[in-house]
Amino acid sequence: MGKRESIPDIARNLGRWTDAIVARVFDHNSLVGLAEYSGVPVINALSDVEHPCQILADLYTIIQKKGGLNGVRLAWMGDGNNVLHSILLAAGLSGMRVCAACPKGYEPKQEIVAKARELAGEPSGADTAKSSIQIVTDPEYAMDQADVVYTDVWTSMGWEDEREQRLKDFHPYQVNAKLMSLAKSDAIFMHCLPAHRGEEVTDEVLESAQSVVFDEAENRLHAQKAVMACLIN
Ligand code: NVA
Repeated sequence: MGKRESIPDIARNLGRWTDAIVARVFDHNSLVGLAEYSGVPVINALSDVEHPCQILADLYTIIQKKGGLNGVRLAWMGDGNNVLHSILLAAGLSGMRVCAACPKGYEPKQEIVAKARELAGEPSGADTAKSSIQIVTDPEYAMDQADVVYTDVWTSMGWEDEREQRLKDFHPYQVNAKLMSLAKSDAIFMHCLPAHRGEEVTDEVLESAQSVVFDEAENRLHAQKAVMACLIN
């Protein structure tokens, strides 16, 4: 996109042929361009800034496993990436409490944290707890009292040149049995997949009874159908 044909032209073509566009892109601005010019709903199926479809499926999974979202404590381990950005925004809207442990220099974007905190300041319903958003560097601190432990790859798309450095910087954030034991005993483990086993998560945790990664994967189907049902008349 944007090389063979400009984004505004692609958008106007697709807008004539389709009821909606589901786009998985690298640059978030490509989505903004599609939305501006296509005249049809544009669904973000992954960009370098956000991953909202994944998080809708994850919220549904948390509701299934924990009975709701309000007051649920989610510990994030690792990179302040697109997946964390969407979790933070979702927390602000849903009453979840998120504590993200990220190494120095790998924190989420400040404007996303500010937006999530702004959303969190507003009660999300009459009987809801206020959500909270914390960004820390200490993985053990973030795990304390966690109902949900979530991690993602240490090297997202676009950062491949930093892979060797990242392997070193993220090592203390690996979700292994020892770190997992610091969360609540009934905590669930989540990952958007694909996972790099032995890096951000061990086989032992990924394959444990606490792991709900394939429920999340199934729920992508249901959540994404729901998004389309909401948007397409
Ligand atoms: N954070 C990952 C998500 C992959 C589904 C990436 O952007 O590569």
